[in-house]
Amino acid sequence: MCEKCNKKPYYITTAIAYTSRKPHIGNSYEIVLTDAIARYKRMQGYDVFFQTGTDEHGQKIEMYAQSEGCSPKEYVDKISGEIRDICDVLNTSYDYFIRTTDPQHEKTVQKIFKKLYEQGDIYKGSYEGLYCTPCESFWTETQLVDGKCPDCGREVKPTKEEAYFLRLSKYQKQLEEYIESHPDFIYPESRKKEMLNNFIKPGLQDLCVSRTSFKWGIPVDFDPNHVVYVWIDALSNYITSLGYDPDGSSEKYKKYWPADAHIVGKDIVRFHTIYWPIMLMALGQPLPKQVFGHPWLLFGEDKMSKSRGNVIYADELVKLIGVDAVRYYLLSEMPFGNDGSASYETIIERFNSDLANTLGNLVNRTIAMNNKYFDGIVQAPTCPEPLDDELKQFCLDTVKKVDDCITSFHISDALETVMSLAKRCNKYIDETAPWVLAKDEAKRERLGTVLYDLLEAIRYVAVLLLPFMPDTHTNILSQLNCDIADYDSLAEFGKTVAGTKLGEPVPLFVRIDPEKLYEEIVEMQRANAAEEKAIEEIEEEIPEIPIDDFAKCDIRVGEVKACEKIKKSKKLLKFNIFDGSGERTIVSGIAKFYQPEDLVGKKILFVSNLKPVKLCGVESRGMILSAVEGEGDDERLQVLTIEGMPAGSKIC
Ligand code: MSP
Repeated sequence: MCEKCNKKPYYITTAIAYTSRKPHIGNSYEIVLTDAIARYKRMQGYDVFFQTGTDEHGQKIEMYAQSEGCSPKEYVDKISGEIRDICDVLNTSYDYFIRTTDPQHEKTVQKIFKKLYEQGDIYKGSYEGLYCTPCESFWTETQLVDGKCPDCGREVKPTKEEAYFLRLSKYQKQLEEYIESHPDFIYPESRKKEMLNNFIKPGLQDLCVSRTSFKWGIPVDFDPNHVVYVWIDALSNYITSLGYDPDGSSEKYKKYWPADAHIVGKDIVRFHTIYWPIMLMALGQPLPKQVFGHPWLLFGEDKMSKSRGNVIYADELVKLIGVDAVRYYLLSEMPFGNDGSASYETIIERFNSDLANTLGNLVNRTIAMNNKYFDGIVQAPTCPEPLDDELKQFCLDTVKKVDDCITSFHISDALETVMSLAKRCNKYIDETAPWVLAKDEAKRERLGTVLYDLLEAIRYVAVLLLPFMPDTHTNILSQLNCDIADYDSLAEFGKTVAGTKLGEPVPLFVRIDPEKLYEEIVEMQRANAAEEKAIEEIEEEIPEIPIDDFAKCDIRVGEVKACEKIKKSKKLLKFNIFDGSGERTIVSGIAKFYQPEDLVGKKILFVSNLKPVKLCGVESRGMILSAVEGEGDDERLQVLTIEGMPAGSKIC
């Protein structure tokens, strides 16, 4: 308990994002998730310290900076700024944004490194292995996949490097015991099992913690050929920001450390539950209370990547559908245990059905009815009926359920619970039919009571929405002209004050036209893909591939039997192609260059063995080949055609 403010401290963090590229919407999930928890804890009266930030060192940054013709610092300043802007656009309430290039962080990391070295937990040795430069990772022969880096599939080079190592092996037993005796430390349970069985129990190898092959890192001050390599630098952020110092830490550190929760993606649970606790044990510091590993948000089944042309950025989506709708989407779309799958269909569906219909209509029609029947004045609930008790109980139960869900990090379930209350209110409207009551003067008091209960239940919805959709929370309360929004006001149903004059109902969410939004998103993605292509061209030469890779691609002659526009899209044409044995549908994004009738009767070339995909609801089985040049308005395209060969002929 803090003596000054009399509140219990609560320290929560996200992982710090790499400053390699502007983060896509999947990367932004974590900050919104953590923000929801931080806001909830604040609402419950905790003294919350919520930290996020950027992880800015490493060889990759050096390379990106070089390709952009700037210094690494200029590069990370730019990307860190973009990341922070996205956190701001998403209305996240972080208290501190740390950068690993902050002088205080760098100085403390040097001290930590030295302390660990002096006490023998870090020692000097050499690293020999197969090195993948883009991934900055050493691999052993057996870890390679087809002789290439198992992470990125690129060439690896045999390399030997002098390096410092952290003695993980020394702490293995202690860590294992800690995890076994602190059942909540690694959460959820499945991740704990994974860590113990796959990594810890088989035996920990000492960790390489310095590099000499690049310069963009924190120098090891007593051996300046070395820079501190990634995890000691990155993980320390959680304590350097608070003022941890091996020679004596700050009051702030003493107040907030150990952290209550580190929120991290599933891929880095290992570093937070093995390297980090061991570092802390070696420093003689307490361990964080909990590490929560969340799943990933994918696009369809795929990872999001600009070059695949399926990238969405949170700030761009915010421009299209608004910040709370993006937050709602991220928080509701991600299940607790499995990866979530983003798609335009679900973005639109959730917006129109949950936000515009369920929530928006509820608030709008309730306020409109109270304005119509009672001139906007909230009536006293003088005529209760047993049915009302159910609604009241539902409100109280919702508060409890939301708490259970958030405490166990089931954030999408928490949000769904709040939305269930909005649905229950809509059902109450159907059950009580206020418009029927309004026709009978004798039922006026009952009508006033029904509307009171609804307005109070909407107040519950609004208060509980704060962690998830802060603007909507404020918007609803302002339409209700209500300032009773503290968490404790939810302990008892009936805090809305009779006699209050409501504001004018303003729609919270205006339904989205799916076609229009779809076009806008596709346009955005095309721009992003073009930009990425340009970056990739600077960055990487087109790779050489073995002939076997090419042989996997089955290219055939096909005859265009029919072609039509796809209604939902300006870009797509749907082709019926005779492939020599039957007809198949292929969707192609060439409507800008061809009218549907232009290619009918022509023989085209197409890739016949691509995995089918659905585009605008139409299954496409293959890809028509074209020659392209230029970009944007200057782009030219011509479909490859052939004469004198029958449909089905193989191209080789
Ligand atoms: N810099 C390291 C973390 C160091 S923490 C001491 C890192 N950075 S990252 O930019 O690659 O990822 C930042 C966080 O975003 C990680 O927790 C990661 O798991 C998460 N995500 C990355 N892609 C994601 C999705 N597609 N979906 C959800 N979270 C994702 O790792």
